[in-house]
Amino acid sequence: MRTFFYNGKMGKKGGRSEMLAEETIRALEPDMVAWRRHFHRHPELSFQEFRTSERIAGLLESWGLEVRRGVAGTGVIGTLRGARPGKTVALRADIDALPIQDQKTCDYASRTPGVMHACGHDGHTAQLLAVARYYSLRRQETAGTRVFLFQPAEETLPGGAAAMIREGALDGVAAVFGCHLWTPFPYGVVATRPGPIMASPDEFEIEIAGRGGHAGMPHLSSDVLLAGAHLVTAIQSIVSRNVDPLEAAVVTVGRFAAGTANNVIAETCRIGGTVRTFTEEARGIIRRRLEETAAHVCALHGARQEFRYVEGYPPVVNDPKETARFFRAASALDGGWKVTECDRIMAGEDFSYYLQERPGCYFFVGAGRPDGSSAPHHHPLFDIEEKAMFAAARLLIAVADDAAEEN
Ligand code: NI
Repeated sequence: MRTFFYNGKMGKKGGRSEMLAEETIRALEPDMVAWRRHFHRHPELSFQEFRTSERIAGLLESWGLEVRRGVAGTGVIGTLRGARPGKTVALRADIDALPIQDQKTCDYASRTPGVMHACGHDGHTAQLLAVARYYSLRRQETAGTRVFLFQPAEETLPGGAAAMIREGALDGVAAVFGCHLWTPFPYGVVATRPGPIMASPDEFEIEIAGRGGHAGMPHLSSDVLLAGAHLVTAIQSIVSRNVDPLEAAVVTVGRFAAGTANNVIAETCRIGGTVRTFTEEARGIIRRRLEETAAHVCALHGARQEFRYVEGYPPVVNDPKETARFFRAASALDGGWKVTECDRIMAGEDFSYYLQERPGCYFFVGAGRPDGSSAPHHHPLFDIEEKAMFAAARLLIAVADDAAEEN
């Protein structure tokens, strides 16, 4: 990780309006924590965020925003038009929880058995609510329009982002920003990078079928286990021989199942694995080569095969100009945060769909304990440093204002 800026003190614009903005957002911190703890106590699974979205919509309406409910099922879109001219900027939070039993004992632990906010989306929701409240209090000073995207179902394919876009989430939007509270980074670290930042997590399955038979008479059978073994080996050359060596890509075979007895030639062999890439080009090459390799290796062994490929989200690719804007806006704040350029992360995120449609930037806000003892994401003891929500809200406002005020 390379340090990009270490932040100074006062915002570069200084002025009284800036100070009022700072006070306004700071005053919302207790609300942010209370909202987050409410959502944490009452988590809801992907596309079932009924009470969550009702609470979001109710709050947005009470602050005078235009509100659309039921977008992509359980999503909510709030719109606020500032009094001054400017561009339309969208800010996104995901709102869903995971099918995990919360093992924390704190008073805000999940009260729904088997469901838990184990990825921080409760914090994303609370901080975006605070940002919406902030703009509702500063409508007169606000240039342009802010669109608040409370998106359902980030955790489950096909995800809520694509459906939100189909239903008009990005209509009229010039730029889009989002962030993840991230416990692998300690609180105080803020990180992103231009270009690819998160991978597309795809999966494949190959089912090989042949003619089983007696292990002592292999010439009367087609040995699918042997075909499968050759295939697993052949697959290893796809990344090393077909993908540009300067690209990052992974093909892992995680599952291999064939055979029932030592003296029987198996009739079926099932192989399953995952593909992680950062560009559509590498993704396409690997998918095609997997399919070709499976077909040809199996033909060589006289076996039939069926190939299935399930595309996960596309890679998250940050726009270079909007990422530069983010670094500029973040470094002008006086939060004392360390703003850095991070490495790529091999996890997936459906924010990618927004970035395929509009320029924008996805960034990480450190929400881990300083000693690195925080539980990882999707863990039953997952929790965040709550002050990271303030940082995230402040950063979203700074980058949105910068983008909206650009001529
Ligand atoms: Ni997440």
